[in-house]
Amino acid sequence: MKKKIITLLILLILLLFLYFIFIRKTKVVFNSNMLAEINSNKYILDYIKEIENGKLITKNKKIDTSSLGKKIIKIKVKDLWKIKEYKFIVNVKDTQKPIIESNTEFKTFTGKEIDLLNGVKVTDNSKENLTVTIIGEYDFYKAGTYNLKYYTKDSSNNETYKDFILKVEDDPNNKVYKTSKGYNLYIKDGVASINGIVLANKSYSLPSNYGSKLTDETMLNFNKMKGDALKEGINLNIISGFRSYNDQNIIYNNYVKKDGKKLADTYSARPGHSEHQTGFAMDINSLKTDFQYTKEGIWLNNNAYKYGFILRYPKGKENITGYMFEPWHYRYVGELSKTLYNNGSWITLEEYFGIDSYYR
Ligand code: DAL
Ligand code: ZN
Repeated sequence: MKKKIITLLILLILLLFLYFIFIRKTKVVFNSNMLAEINSNKYILDYIKEIENGKLITKNKKIDTSSLGKKIIKIKVKDLWKIKEYKFIVNVKDTQKPIIESNTEFKTFTGKEIDLLNGVKVTDNSKENLTVTIIGEYDFYKAGTYNLKYYTKDSSNNETYKDFILKVEDDPNNKVYKTSKGYNLYIKDGVASINGIVLANKSYSLPSNYGSKLTDETMLNFNKMKGDALKEGINLNIISGFRSYNDQNIIYNNYVKKDGKKLADTYSARPGHSEHQTGFAMDINSLKTDFQYTKEGIWLNNNAYKYGFILRYPKGKENITGYMFEPWHYRYVGELSKTLYNNGSWITLEEYFGIDSYYR
């Protein structure tokens, strides 16, 4: 009986021994996804689904995800007295697109270039220094709305596109036009000029704060003319020289009250549109149409051009200048006066430069 029990016990121990040696197996089950995003926080346990018959004795360490590629991770699992080593591979990849932060809209004026990459920030989980390029065509010298894209790509070929808009608008206060006669008409800070000659007519106005007095050049040449005229017994006096925007506003509105807008517009400029505000124009001696027949009127018509002055609103050119004949209104233009005199058949600034004069 005792012998039987001992035999049974030995058999049992043997069976147990056989079980642990041949049947009981340690098994580590890994996750199906063995990827890690670059620079992400990943730990050993993030990749182990379960361990059968054993216990992880390696510390749950952080995996080095600072560079791309396959990382071999070694772990140790203990089952009773047995320690087994396992290896697994984590593939560090960059699957995320770079992020572009930027404005979605830029505005500028024609001819004024701006840096479209200014303020553009690109970040990527790879921590690489990425360059951003602009896709699409645009022209800072042509008004329009341009639909463009920022583009960048990281070293793992993850691409990012980001739409933005560039609006190029004409600046009404700073522009260059070609006139019908091929001259460049500049508008700078709201002042129109061609070849340095400041323009004020029904089409081109001056800012309300423009001008302060007759220019020195205008005065110098007027005084020379006045002196020479006097030697011939001709007395010339400025009865209206520089007129500010406000002066003109009062004058024009008085005429409108008196004659109505339609008629007033044929002989008086609206505020901002008067040549008197340029500082180059003046009314001499009289505001009567008959001034043309006086000796002063005749002398001016024949000689003013020698001093750089032109008869600004000649007879027969009413539809061109926009104003009735004004035998008293002279405008300083410098050397150009000799051409515009045209042997007494005055050419207007409008005709010469190829510009118009009407209220829009
Ligand atoms: N009489 C001219 C046109 C003016 O008012 O400026
Ligand atoms: Zn005048």
